Amino acid sequence: MLNQRMEDALNEQHNAELYSGYLYLAMSAWFQSVNLSGFAAWMRVQAQEELVHAMKFYDYIHERGGGVTLKTIDGPPSEWESPLAAFEGAYAHEQKVTGMINDLVDLAREEHDHATEIFLQWFVTEQVEEEDSANEVVQKIKLMGEASGGLFMLDRELGQRTFAPPAASPA
Ligand code: FEO
Repeated sequence: MLNQRMEDALNEQHNAELYSGYLYLAMSAWFQSVNLSGFAAWMRVQAQEELVHAMKFYDYIHERGGGVTLKTIDGPPSEWESPLAAFEGAYAHEQKVTGMINDLVDLAREEHDHATEIFLQWFVTEQVEEEDSANEVVQKIKLMGEASGGLFMLDRELGQRTFAPPAASPA
């Protein structure tokens, strides 16, 4: 059974993961509006992954006998100055989420909730990948600089990302 403090914190993270999905969907819509459909596809896959993250919290709270409370999801921005600004925003957001996951681990330790600490390990590892994949695109955009055609080549590359639905957990 989760204690109230842990349950509240996990519900907050569930909301934060949904916000992440909202943020990346907003970025996807913006990229689409400026005709960068590969960038838009990348962000759309990212939004789908965030929903998977959110549902991991949702399922875990239930498994531990807790209650899921759905709170309002904040509205994300709707436009960015440039592709670089959007991806820098994504990278900064992932760094913030890493901090939130680390705070949850600290709380689980404080509350001697070993099961939650183990559950959170997946997210600790995932955040390394999340930061890396956003930063990789930031660096590629910077490297590209003013090179003509660079943006379109990168758009084609990013458009190849596909969403891999999580494998069904064993019964
Ligand atoms: Fe759910 Fe992008 O971290």
